[in-house]
Amino acid sequence: MKLADTGLTAQEIKDKASKYMIETYERFDFLAETAKDQYIYDEKGEKYLDFYAGIAVNSAGNCNEKVVEAVVEQAKTLMHTFNYPYTIPQAVLAEKICTTIGMDKIFFQNSGTEANEAMIKMARKYGIEKYGPNRYHIVTAKMGFHGRTFGAMSATGQPGNGCQIGFGPMTYGFSYAPYNDLQAFKDACTENTIAIMVEPVQGEGGVHPATQEFLQGLREFCDEKGMLLLLDEVQTGWCRTGKVMSYMNYGVKPDIVSMAKALGGGMPIGAICATEEVAKAFTAGSHGTTFGGNPVSCAAALAEIDELLGRNLADNAAKMGAYFMEKLKTLPHVKEVRGQGLLVGVEFDDTINAVDVKHECLHRHLLLTAIGAHVIRMVPPLIIEEKDCDEAYEIIRASVEALS
Ligand SMILES: Cc1ncc(COP(=O)(O)O)c(C=O)c1O
Repeated sequence: MKLADTGLTAQEIKDKASKYMIETYERFDFLAETAKDQYIYDEKGEKYLDFYAGIAVNSAGNCNEKVVEAVVEQAKTLMHTFNYPYTIPQAVLAEKICTTIGMDKIFFQNSGTEANEAMIKMARKYGIEKYGPNRYHIVTAKMGFHGRTFGAMSATGQPGNGCQIGFGPMTYGFSYAPYNDLQAFKDACTENTIAIMVEPVQGEGGVHPATQEFLQGLREFCDEKGMLLLLDEVQTGWCRTGKVMSYMNYGVKPDIVSMAKALGGGMPIGAICATEEVAKAFTAGSHGTTFGGNPVSCAAALAEIDELLGRNLADNAAKMGAYFMEKLKTLPHVKEVRGQGLLVGVEFDDTINAVDVKHECLHRHLLLTAIGAHVIRMVPPLIIEEKDCDEAYEIIRASVEALS
């Protein structure tokens, strides 16, 4: 839908949203009307360089032609059936994902938080059935982020902070340990612990990649104790970090991995993949979803994966990420540049507020996000080139200088 079709002004659209919508977002003062590749356009047709990609979603570019075609074709063919009949896009996608990332089984959901709910439920059921009724405890990382439904929110190790505030007691059965502290994770596990659940790179927590020693150490410890390693790859999955899945950067394989965001190329889809043995915990009736595995989202995901793999966008993410991060280190007021592939964070010193940088960049037509007080995060489409990194760098530099 375009503004001209409505007879309304951009301000009237914003006013309607403010009047009728329950606002939980800190909005950009910007109306996104159309998008293509690494750009988003406002209602005046003005171009913005997109370095957030709907938060790590539009990895093969905004409105990727192949994805759009797949959506249109599938919408005309079969839009929704629930999961009683077999459907073609679902079965083909299931094989494509499992064989690409080396996992045995998949369960489709609609979003990241739902995928994590499924991952937590599967781990608990596996533990209880295999070891007894108390074996459901899960250790997650402080400053992690796993989503906003009750299980995923409870797994999010930020007690008293952000998304948990005001919602009363969290779901029982989680403990939190500091990220990248292997000994602390070992100490937090008890005889009732069935799993350790972490992001390979903490995204919302400020862009902190796991160390090799940490992730490998968790894998070895889980094996030793008969526990499961659960990886939340909702933000890192599907080529963002320079490999198809971030765990491939470490040579560490999870027992269950969750994914969403980039998988659908802009259409809502999430999933978990598990080993054959662990997947057996889900049997008829033990889990389900109306929309998960919807044919249109599955067709979009197939097209997105073809684009990501066919155009070697994981390699491009690794190359552009390295190039961009080197440049970002030369920004004024930089404390640290962190990241993996094109999941990039810049932490400024105490004099520079990240939200102010975000707004200054928006004025200069660059879209990025702020995390906490001093970190900006960039997760652009993986199709970007050096010239896009150069342009983004110049805008950030001008923005920081304006704030200095
Ligand atoms: C690592 C991680 N897990 C889970 C989620 C939740 O995903 P969704 O917003 O699709 O529910 C996010 C979202 O940012 C995420 O980054």
